[in-house]
Amino acid sequence: MAAAAAACRLLRLAPRRLRSPRHSAPTALSLFPTPLSASSGWRSYCAAAQASAPPPAAAAAAAAGEAVGEFRRRLRVAEVKGGEDEGAAWVGKELTVRGWVRTCRAQRTVTFVEVNDGSCLSNMQCVLTPDTEGYDQIDCVTTGASVIVEGVVASSQGGKQKVELKVSKIVVIGESDPTSFPIQKKRASREFLRTVAHLRPRTNTFGAVARVRNALAFATHKFFQDNGFVWVSSPIITASDCEGAGEQFYVTTLLSNTAEGGCLVNNIPSKDGRVDWSQDFFCKPAFLTVSGQLNGETYASALSDIYTFGPTFRAENSNTSRHLAEFWMIEPELAFADLNDDMACASAYLQYVVKYILENCKEDMDFFNTWVEKGIIDRLSDVAEKNFVQMSYSDAIELLIRSNKKFEFPVKWGLDLQSEHERYITEVAFSGRPVIIRDYPKEIKAFYMRQNDDGKTVAAMDLLVPRVGELIGGSQREERLDHLEARLDESNLNKDSYWWYLDLRRYGSVPHAGFGLGFERLVQFATGIDNIRDAIPFPRVPGSAEF
Ligand code: 4AD
Ligand code: MG
Repeated sequence: MAAAAAACRLLRLAPRRLRSPRHSAPTALSLFPTPLSASSGWRSYCAAAQASAPPPAAAAAAAAGEAVGEFRRRLRVAEVKGGEDEGAAWVGKELTVRGWVRTCRAQRTVTFVEVNDGSCLSNMQCVLTPDTEGYDQIDCVTTGASVIVEGVVASSQGGKQKVELKVSKIVVIGESDPTSFPIQKKRASREFLRTVAHLRPRTNTFGAVARVRNALAFATHKFFQDNGFVWVSSPIITASDCEGAGEQFYVTTLLSNTAEGGCLVNNIPSKDGRVDWSQDFFCKPAFLTVSGQLNGETYASALSDIYTFGPTFRAENSNTSRHLAEFWMIEPELAFADLNDDMACASAYLQYVVKYILENCKEDMDFFNTWVEKGIIDRLSDVAEKNFVQMSYSDAIELLIRSNKKFEFPVKWGLDLQSEHERYITEVAFSGRPVIIRDYPKEIKAFYMRQNDDGKTVAAMDLLVPRVGELIGGSQREERLDHLEARLDESNLNKDSYWWYLDLRRYGSVPHAGFGLGFERLVQFATGIDNIRDAIPFPRVPGSAEF
């Protein structure tokens, strides 16, 4: 084991030359330098990469500083097994797989090693015999170890896969002690896997969640880009509170005034018993943003349609399966648009990304359908095909009262809808269809929402989906200066600190609207994963910021 580890270290140090004239040309399918010594493959691989004499042209190049090699995408298991024929067209071809061992089963004459490279759910079944080069390291081929495997694709006798790899050579790159590697073959609980968040992407579930999350992000950009929106980076550090709810994390260097053992409270500058923010980094209180909307509105007031997609932070002490302290938000903003345009955009966007993953993540979606939420594919297909329901807040309250259902929280006009109410509406009353509720009482919504003519409600909308509840929150924005100033006063917010936001209403104000979608809630909705902590690689929640 120790020798192999030393060799692996060497291997890592060896410069990566993707196309080198020193080696005989790699086959079309393999970037592995060939030929390799038959006796100890990993050693000759290191030697081949390091010690062979450079040809004269390369020596001249070395004297002048070496050119960077050409980047060539490496072949992934998904490209071999992902097609309609599940790899049958590859039979007889040589290829190299780089990945991590899921299982190793030794039979009398052959050993089966399942290797996963993360490109898809499927492993490559690798078949080794005692003649395989590198077989002397078979004891190191344990769950979690990283390997490079070379061989020829063959039809598989087993029923589970169409093809397998008849291995000519295996190299153990990084060993994994099977007695301590925490991810064993038996199914581990999601709670346990949260305690090993650095290793959980090596499980089927978290690999699939990561791939679908990636596809949703790609589809998000594609939808907006195809529709002429410009992506804008809103700041992460801000001095304004977009939602006006005071759920912000401070950003300060006042505490960096450290003495041994931590910052002394007496060292924090104060004035009249309060923290003196004028001595802080930004000379005023600053926070992690709760939303990029206000900044987004400035760019929509110039570029017409924009969207933001970035991290947002909420210091609310909510220990629920739908809340994170750090989550990603997608916030489109449309100029010359009203609430109807906003709802239409939200519906089209959601249907687009759902359709995208159904078409492009089939293997992972089948996995969720079987192991995570039975029927999720039908549920999502319905979402992609059928129109969403739309109703006013007043009608929603009426519906809840008439349901005669016992809810934990009271139902009354003027009170906010709780998760149990939202889920009842979408899961029971409308049998799983997404529902948009609009025109909420102004008292329970943020200051920037446009007041309706009734004087009681604002042009707000929440899009509710089964299992998750509120997935999207949006509104038409108050574009009238006098109305907006009045709302800031009513909400006890300091008008001066919103001076630039008010300027948008002074110079070329237009009706505009937008919404925010919590990306992890979308991942929950699209995968069936029921806890939001499993929809983001490294969850931040009250009491936990490990990893
Ligand atoms: O409804 P919210 O608070 O709306 C806004 O922030 C607006 N400024 C958006 C806009 O109009 N541009 O948040 C929007 C969405 C919610 O519907 C929810 O999906 C998600 O963000 N969200 C959270 N997701 C995870 N953890 C939390 N603590 C969340 N708080 C909100
Ligand atoms: Mg909301």
